[in-house]
Amino acid sequence: MIRESLTFDDVLLVPQYSTLESRSQVDLSVNMNELKFTHPIIPANMKTVTGVEMSRFIVQSGGLAILNRFISIEEQYAAVQEVRNIDGLNRFAVSIGIKDSDKELVTNFISAGVRIICIDVAHGDSLQCTSMIKWVKSKFPNTTLIAGNVATGSGAQRLWEAGADVVKVGVGPGSLCTTRVETGNGVAQLTAIMDVAVAQSSLRELERTRPADAKKNKTYPFIADGGIKSAGDVVKALCFADMVMVGNLFAGTDEAPGELLHVGQHSYKRYDGSSTHKTNHIEGVTAMVPYKGPAENVLTKLLEGVKSGCSYQGADNLTDLKEGAQFMRITGAGLKESHPHDVILK
Ligand code: XMP
Repeated sequence: MIRESLTFDDVLLVPQYSTLESRSQVDLSVNMNELKFTHPIIPANMKTVTGVEMSRFIVQSGGLAILNRFISIEEQYAAVQEVRNIDGLNRFAVSIGIKDSDKELVTNFISAGVRIICIDVAHGDSLQCTSMIKWVKSKFPNTTLIAGNVATGSGAQRLWEAGADVVKVGVGPGSLCTTRVETGNGVAQLTAIMDVAVAQSSLRELERTRPADAKKNKTYPFIADGGIKSAGDVVKALCFADMVMVGNLFAGTDEAPGELLHVGQHSYKRYDGSSTHKTNHIEGVTAMVPYKGPAENVLTKLLEGVKSGCSYQGADNLTDLKEGAQFMRITGAGLKESHPHDVILK
């Protein structure tokens, strides 16, 4: 039987009774094992999104910054230095691949004070990825390890069981990904994160029933990565995922690396698929996005939308949101009705 997979636009949250007096009461903080953040939004670890400035901005906002791995080692160390200077190493990760040379990189980053490492590969549900996870965890057991990307519950479970603390989920939902077109592979993002949430709750249940002396104290958190077009999508993702990674919406901000490009009356910045930095890769495109001003504006708008979304659900924090969320599938007509319609936008 062929299963159907859904994405954010296929569903809406059903509003629920609320006792909140104001959406400002909503607490967006996140605890992922021993890590604590004031909000759940992570700009994508892409070359045209998270460099030194975006890292500094997000770390200062209380969130998690994950540096991209496509810049020079010198630039990566400059980011580590910058974050160290603002005492933000508990909210900052570097990204690595799965080559032997990445092992040396990890060793050096950890000597430089880095505490969170993100193994970032297109097909994370692979022997190469689990081997790298095991290597990092055996050498540096105190390091927090994020690993991905996967698109299935069993894939996420393999990474958690290999030793990943946090799993990153999303194969092909990104705004400039062509993986699904070029390879025929992927899982529509809402279904992917729902399936991973099911795997997460079985592992949590197992953890609860483990005898006290065998407990690993793991909560199996995961990040929904890609395909976010609006705050509403973030709210839907947070009904399942612990944090959300956003590329397109942060590309084009002042803090995103790259020069302004002027075309006619309009300004843009480059936004390039990560696979385009490698040779022989066909799974992404290079693009431009409109210039958006300070990243603070984007973050504030997203967080305000998430608080509102929680208040419609009667949830005063993200744990409540996960527990009570109810969805309905909508039709094409419902989606049309959801967007401004029958008006001329000024
Ligand atoms: P959004 O939708 O926020 O997605 O722009 C960002 C995410 O897209 C992924 N990404 C890629 N996926 N080929 C892909 O298949 C690529 O070249 C590529 N570049 C980025 C990545 O997960 C990112 O966080």
